[in-house]
Amino acid sequence: DIPSLAETYADYFPIGAAIEPFQTTGLKAELLKKHVNWLVAENAMKPASLQPTERNFTWENADRIVEFAKESGMEVRFHTLVWHSQVGAWFFKDAEGKPMVDETEPGKREANKKLLLERLDTHVRTIVDRYKDDIKSWDVVNEVIEPGDLDGMRASDWYKITGTDYIETAFRAAREAGGPDAKLYINDYGTDNPAKRDRLYELVKEMLDKGVPIDGVGHQTHIGIHGPSVDSIIESMRKFSELGLDNLVTELDMSIYAWNDRSDFGADIPDNVLKKQADRYRELFEAFKANKDILSGVVFWGIADDHTWLSSFPMKRTEAPLLFDKQLHAKPAFWAVVDSSKLV
Ligand code: G3I
Repeated sequence: DIPSLAETYADYFPIGAAIEPFQTTGLKAELLKKHVNWLVAENAMKPASLQPTERNFTWENADRIVEFAKESGMEVRFHTLVWHSQVGAWFFKDAEGKPMVDETEPGKREANKKLLLERLDTHVRTIVDRYKDDIKSWDVVNEVIEPGDLDGMRASDWYKITGTDYIETAFRAAREAGGPDAKLYINDYGTDNPAKRDRLYELVKEMLDKGVPIDGVGHQTHIGIHGPSVDSIIESMRKFSELGLDNLVTELDMSIYAWNDRSDFGADIPDNVLKKQADRYRELFEAFKANKDILSGVVFWGIADDHTWLSSFPMKRTEAPLLFDKQLHAKPAFWAVVDSSKLV
């Protein structure tokens, strides 16, 4: 019998995992119940999942995850109220069905912006209102920074139509609907990268100065066995904590390839690769533990290697980024993470 990850880390921070609704029964459900205290919907709570067409909210899949969590004594954190991906195209069309971004007439552009922000406000309030008793931790906006794009902001329809007003609207609506206990996060990947980190810092500071209710930064932490450095990940958390913000690791996994490497290990992953992964997970969790004052939770993006977004993106190949293998057995990385918990 193996130790429970959640119990092993009980003195430090909660451990979570992203799941799909179909994983709430069977062996996967048992594995989750044993090892994690938080659940996140990998897809079921994204904008297109919850409001595929205007005012037509579909709750079934999201409810299933919330029910499973309640039955099992776990908590749910929400991902994500706003995103540029997996969002219904209807949000960005005017009353005549024309894409808002194509509008050139200033009066109509202003009316479109108002309409889009109203739709967003309704989306956020409806969802937060429904789940506010069950969910306390929310990804309010996801992946809004893109250093190569417009002003360092992602050039999404949200940004092109409203500037940063959509971010402000989403946080204010979430606070009003969720109340003071709701913890509201801005979530992004690559937050260790100085260009991205600094643009995010600038945006968050500007928002806080305006009284926008942001409580913390979600660091996705989709990393690889070759990088980025653990120091750069922690340094970013320190920087945001100096603004008085909380930090969460929201989507942790560790690819066994370098980002620009196109090779494929096939069915047999070399032992030295699994060992390298374990060593890096050990180093990472030691740093997380040492920084528990500025880090309040660690969520994996999945639980076992049989189900990971990396197997289809960027290419279909053998991936093994998590702590359990395809047969749901503990990997060297699992034991490394357990070991880190014991070191003082
Ligand atoms: O549900 C449909 C199914 O009906 C259809 O037959 C099938 C055919 O492609 O697609 C299914 O939808 C897929 C969905 O996952 C559910 O499995 C989408 O194609 C696929 O694009 C989608 O991928 C998700 C991805 O976000 C979308 O960008 C991944 O599962 C999910 O892990 C990933 O999660 C993101 C976070 O939200 C944000 N941060 C990065 C992270 C990894 O990309």
